[in-house]
Amino acid sequence: MKKLIIVVVLLASYSFAGDLLPLKHGVEFDHKGHQTKKVGMCSVCHGEHIGKIDGFGKEWAHTHCINCHKLYKEGPPTTCGGCHKTMSLLRQ
Ligand code: HEC
Ligand code: HEC
Ligand code: HEC
Repeated sequence: MKKLIIVVVLLASYSFAGDLLPLKHGVEFDHKGHQTKKVGMCSVCHGEHIGKIDGFGKEWAHTHCINCHKLYKEGPPTTCGGCHKTMSLLRQ
């Protein structure tokens, strides 16, 4: 029974997770586009806990996003503008 509940919760969260997640500072993250065979399972980014990522922010993103793009030699340019589409970053 516990397992069934977990599966239902996972499916529910799956359908609520938007395709395109607008992150802060002008970063548009194609969540769905990252849920591919190539990138791997949810756990690659979420670990054991599906949902908001604990301590998500610059530190997490710059480590995980950029490292993986370097690893695959794919994704946006690793320069700031590759991910940050607005200039608000420069204004803070
Ligand atoms: C390449 C990394 C990556 C992969 C793979 C990934 N996610 Fe995410 N996911 C994120 C990021 C980044 C966020 C936003 C983090 C935050 O705000 O804490 C997020 C947020 C979410 C949220 C919360 C959405 C919201 O609007 O609050 C759910 C639910 C979720 N993901 C489910 C999944 C599931 C299910 C899978 C696998 C099918 C998956 N994710 C695969 C990176 C990923
Ligand atoms: C585990 C590996 C992995 C992680 C983590 C990851 N990416 Fe990617 N990303 C990829 C790959 C592989 C592609 C190329 C996908 C393709 O086009 O088939 C990509 C493509 C992209 C693109 C290009 C446009 C697009 O959506 O196709 C953007 C922008 C991007 N990633 C942003 C991010 C951001 C922001 C994060 C962190 C929140 C992130 N990625 C985390 C592997 C990763
Ligand atoms: C692979 C994509 C990617 C690249 C490349 C990238 N960033 Fe980011 N950056 C992010 C993401 C994702 C966040 C977190 C967004 C959020 O918290 O919703 C972020 C957050 C930030 C923040 C916000 C810190 C805070 O106040 O929380 C700053 C400043 C920043 N980046 C500067 C830079 C600079 C400067 C560069 C170039 C040297 C750069 N970024 C390159 C994805 C990227």
